Amino acid sequence: MTDDGTAEDGMTENGMTGGASAGSGVTEPTERARTILRENDRGGYTVPTARLYPFQWNWDSAFVAMGWATFDAPRAWQEIERLLRGQWEDGLIPQIVFHAPSDDYFPGPDVWGVQHDPSTSGIPQPPVLATAVRRVLDASGDEARMAAIYPHLLHNHRWWENARDPGRRGLVATLHPWETGMDNSPAWDTPLARVPTATRTAIRRRDTSHVDAAMRPRAEDYQRFIHLVDLFRDCAWDPVRMLAASPFRVADVGTNAILLRAERDLFDLAGRFGTPAEQAEIAVRIERLGAALDRLWSADLGLFISQDLRAHTPIAVGTSAGFLPLYAGRAGARAPQMAVTLQRWAGRVSRLVPSTDPDDPRFERLRYWCGPVWAVVNWMIADGFQRAGETAPAERIRSDTRALISNAGFSEYFDPADGNGLGGANFSWTAAVWLMLA
Ligand code: DGY
Repeated sequence: MTDDGTAEDGMTENGMTGGASAGSGVTEPTERARTILRENDRGGYTVPTARLYPFQWNWDSAFVAMGWATFDAPRAWQEIERLLRGQWEDGLIPQIVFHAPSDDYFPGPDVWGVQHDPSTSGIPQPPVLATAVRRVLDASGDEARMAAIYPHLLHNHRWWENARDPGRRGLVATLHPWETGMDNSPAWDTPLARVPTATRTAIRRRDTSHVDAAMRPRAEDYQRFIHLVDLFRDCAWDPVRMLAASPFRVADVGTNAILLRAERDLFDLAGRFGTPAEQAEIAVRIERLGAALDRLWSADLGLFISQDLRAHTPIAVGTSAGFLPLYAGRAGARAPQMAVTLQRWAGRVSRLVPSTDPDDPRFERLRYWCGPVWAVVNWMIADGFQRAGETAPAERIRSDTRALISNAGFSEYFDPADGNGLGGANFSWTAAVWLMLA
């Protein structure tokens, strides 16, 4: 690999040439990454990939906006503005905005049964948005657009507090594995086993007609996922009823760390676009969430772990989400120990960062969040190690990410053992990460 991440021999397995294209000063993978975003553009919002994910996804779009911002800032703002059209009156920014109909995905708007225009799903996703918006602002300096977006972000962060931490204990609750973005992580096995497999909605999966079933969640996972959707629909998507009713209730270390980072970014934005009272309000949440996150440390595993809020027990499964308190700027003195943990993982796989601890018996190198490497998670963990002053692991993760993409293309995720691309191809957020690292 060369410094810009291109393959030394200039031609990679997927036929991507590594050199600069004539006269443009832009490398071919960078050109390809921009093309992927343009090809996945559906007129102001970017689908994660054609067919498998034909709508606008929340955290995908946050990363994608940061990717657009590297070469087309107005388009980056548009991505965010389109996502915010899905925001509910109570502040929720849903996981999916169904801007235009498609038969390629299950569950569609009819299953969610949400009354909103445009139609949306009814659950959140990891709140990367304030962090993304701040980065788009830095790239573009467009204060007028920023000023219009700021109140939506504040409203959304208040939603997290009111809907998911009404007791003000510090950590927000997650009620569905889809909310974590890490749907079938082995961390959810025990709490998810509490969810019945019976569904009233007929399950008509489309994902396994686009992607090899061995790379996707199992049938039983889907039964439980849809059971929860049925249950929440019965709760009329009321946050109080959902929190009380859900048999799956966890404090996801990933969501909470991403929220803490977003709160810090929102705090800075509030200094320019909000009021001192709003800054003070955000500061209270930052302090409370940070202190609660500290308690998720696992000395045994050498990283942070999630908590089962129904059983009141820690979830002793090491996952890549356990490194994200670094990204939140809250790992403190634990950062060197986390670097040691990463080193242990590196001894078991050839490419970092696998989504599940490779020493865990539930590790599976091909199956979605049970083991594969995801570029966006790598980007966050590398950023976290960097800000903790651990530059060697940060650089290793960044160079592994570039190598994976330049060798296997812009896949949805990657095999940590042989670096092969897995899941969907021409993936928007993988392209965005390439652009952010370039
Ligand atoms: C899916 O359908 O696979 C998604 O991960 C849900 O967000």
